[in-house]
Amino acid sequence: MKRVIAIYPGSFDPLTNGHLDLIERGSKIFDELIVAVLRNPEKEALFSLEERRAMLKEMTAGFDNVRVDAFDGLLVDYAVRQKASAVLRGIRAISDYEYELQMAMMNRKLEPRLETVFMMPAETYSYLSSRLVREIAKLGGSVQGLVPPPVEERLRRKINGDQKIVRLRRK
Ligand code: PNS
Repeated sequence: MKRVIAIYPGSFDPLTNGHLDLIERGSKIFDELIVAVLRNPEKEALFSLEERRAMLKEMTAGFDNVRVDAFDGLLVDYAVRQKASAVLRGIRAISDYEYELQMAMMNRKLEPRLETVFMMPAETYSYLSSRLVREIAKLGGSVQGLVPPPVEERLRRKINGDQKIVRLRRK
């Protein structure tokens, strides 16, 4: 029988509980799920690619059909190299839909054999995004319950470290 491999691509800067929720759902319906972090030198990220991979690896260690990887270039080319037949994306609210539809259609134009599958995270996470998590953490707010505790700890260390560097530069 055919094994269905799916790619769950994203920036994961940082991984949130919403991402983890989707990974868990995806791991139940696909034979193998590859969580693929985009290596994007043009977009400045809070966490390095290696840090993002490490957090994902740590938090997905309990799923035996989930693998963490990184990619650059076109997603469809990466998916073909991985022999994947699906791309998993999360849709939280109707506002995600337009962008996601556009991307799914463009990916279909580029590689018609690849299907995009949308899943909804638990409604508790429907307002959650990595961008808001970064902003809240930078402004000293609590991100408890929004990201896994090890990610919370890394955010705290990263932001305290950055603030120390700014203070040193100002001196
Ligand atoms: O979590 P994000 O940042 O919304 O993920 C966006 C991502 C990584 C899925 C998208 O930017 C992507 O697929 N980039 C790879 C380059 C590519 O294939 N671009 C054409 C998309 S139609």
